Amino acid sequence: EQKTYILAIESSCDDTSAAVLLNGKVLSNVVATQKIHEEYGGVVPELASRAHQQNIVPVVHMALDKANIGKKELSAIAFTSGPGLLGSLLVGTSFAKSLALGLNIPLIEVNHMQAHILAHFIEEENFDKPTFPFLAMTISGGHTQIIRVDNYFDMTVIGETIDDAVGEAFDKSAKILGLPYPGGPLIDKYAGEGDPKAFRFPKPKVDGLNFSFSGLKTSILYFTQKHTAENSAFIEENLRDICASIQYTIVNILMDKLKKASKETGIRQIAIGGGVSANSGIRNALKEAEKKYGWKTFIPKFEYTTDNAAMIGITGYLKYREKDFSEQTVTAKARFKV
Ligand code: KG4
Ligand code: ZN
Repeated sequence: EQKTYILAIESSCDDTSAAVLLNGKVLSNVVATQKIHEEYGGVVPELASRAHQQNIVPVVHMALDKANIGKKELSAIAFTSGPGLLGSLLVGTSFAKSLALGLNIPLIEVNHMQAHILAHFIEEENFDKPTFPFLAMTISGGHTQIIRVDNYFDMTVIGETIDDAVGEAFDKSAKILGLPYPGGPLIDKYAGEGDPKAFRFPKPKVDGLNFSFSGLKTSILYFTQKHTAENSAFIEENLRDICASIQYTIVNILMDKLKKASKETGIRQIAIGGGVSANSGIRNALKEAEKKYGWKTFIPKFEYTTDNAAMIGITGYLKYREKDFSEQTVTAKARFKV
């Protein structure tokens, strides 16, 4: 069998990542998470670009070292060209172009959103791959989409958020409660010890398969202001119940649309990706749906659900097999549809 080594680079948001794959199997996947944004309570684009510039060379070296291969053995370079923060994307794009030029090997641009979905095709023991067609729900701090996947590169967005991403809804709610950024995992943790029906938050009315989360954030803000005015220790005393109720509402919003999508398309294979797929509420809801609706659900290994270069590498490998290469004139794109 031919040996195809792909070096992949991801720099679309606040994680600098590099991976090496051999025929779709991950040999290394290095992620440098930028801590600098924590003190600002969110990603600061200008600081992200600078951190990528500092991280990219050591991260790529580490990925090659861990895979135990030299640059000369690489078959191609895959990189995220979009969507994402332009300044961040430019760092990875310029680096990938220069390296491919220097090594005289093919360059492969990758759409970050397609990669979140194609992460399910990484060769990994004990993980089943979905078969076509399937539905993919990508849920993270930057995206919330339901996509119909008919083939590796035949994808249609059938629903998406009209305002905040679901991870943002978790993080902004957490911020209102005084929890540190990113608060999603903390809401999940406290929710496990609380009563999900203690408080009720309204669900948005949005047409079709689209989502909206900005109203939830506003209602949580009013809710805490009102109760804190009456009792300054209200949040502290009820934190677990509040977190459980917020998580219950968000999970319901996601599951309602996913069920609707499955019903409308007749597709019962459901693949989840993005950082929020770590949430225990959504994981439990999916398990229930397997029993209740006969779904088969797919969640990749956690390191391949959050932003990472391994998913860029598998997408690059699938494109490499089709000889779908990019020119040196390829550019970074803040907006890039699947
Ligand atoms: O995919 P990701 O690492 O980065 C992008 O945003 O692309 O996702 C990060 C998001 C954050 O909003 C974080 O709060 C959320 O995923 N998150 C969670 C959990 N783990 C991560 N949200 C809820 N429950 C979790 N267990
Ligand atoms: Zn992402």
